[in-house]
Amino acid sequence: MRNSKPKTATVRIQRFNPEVDKKPYLQSFEVPYREDKTLLDALQEIKNGMDGSLTFRRSCRHAICGSCAMNINGRNELVCHTPLKDVLDRRGRVTIRPLPYLPIVKDLVVDRTSFWEQYMRVKPWLIPPEMEAQKEYRMSPEEVEALLEAETCIMCGACYSACPVIATSKKYMGPHALQKAFQRVLDPRDGGLTERMNDLEFDHYGIYNCHTATDCISACPKGLNPAQTISTLRNLARRRTAFEAERVARQETLLEPTA
Ligand code: FES
Repeated sequence: MRNSKPKTATVRIQRFNPEVDKKPYLQSFEVPYREDKTLLDALQEIKNGMDGSLTFRRSCRHAICGSCAMNINGRNELVCHTPLKDVLDRRGRVTIRPLPYLPIVKDLVVDRTSFWEQYMRVKPWLIPPEMEAQKEYRMSPEEVEALLEAETCIMCGACYSACPVIATSKKYMGPHALQKAFQRVLDPRDGGLTERMNDLEFDHYGIYNCHTATDCISACPKGLNPAQTISTLRNLARRRTAFEAERVARQETLLEPTA
């Protein structure tokens, strides 16, 4: 960005209304510049004061709900978490487009149907083990720690829509769903390990459909590493017999206090 503080910033937004437009186009808006303004602030300002028809998703404004992921200057980001000052070029411009590789509903809103369908394919819920719990399951601090990173995912879709495999086929489970599957596979309380590993390993669009392009890593606004997660799942698949035996043994002690 230029050295002297600009008075305004140029926000270029990809517009598309399927009812009237043949194809998407860029529209520029001038917004007052402020050091503490986020891209979401700028979008809201445009919608409230310049063009009420501008359409985008947002909810929490605190990088928690994942609804405001968009493509900023070619990179997927959460607009509520992106300061305007950090993304302006030397001419004081920023370009906002919807997440790539997904059908556009209107302007910056994309159809996330395939994203959620793939998420549901990995059974994101905890499957209870066969034994009946008479009291709470006892996980060790190390086991809880191992789950923390996977739990950080907010399902914003930034990794999914940055993935070159998704660009060509919506059949691949995708980094977001595999991240969730990893969380369940790691969880000693989960009773569906064999079923999950079958789905991940033998489904043609599971862990071996990843091309290790690693675009998911740079796209994740939470700093997660889905490519590493998928690699770990492949390693677990390779030593699957031993891993499943360890899980059976661990579940026999789940009701006991951990050391
Ligand atoms: S508005 Fe919720 S993550 Fe941005």
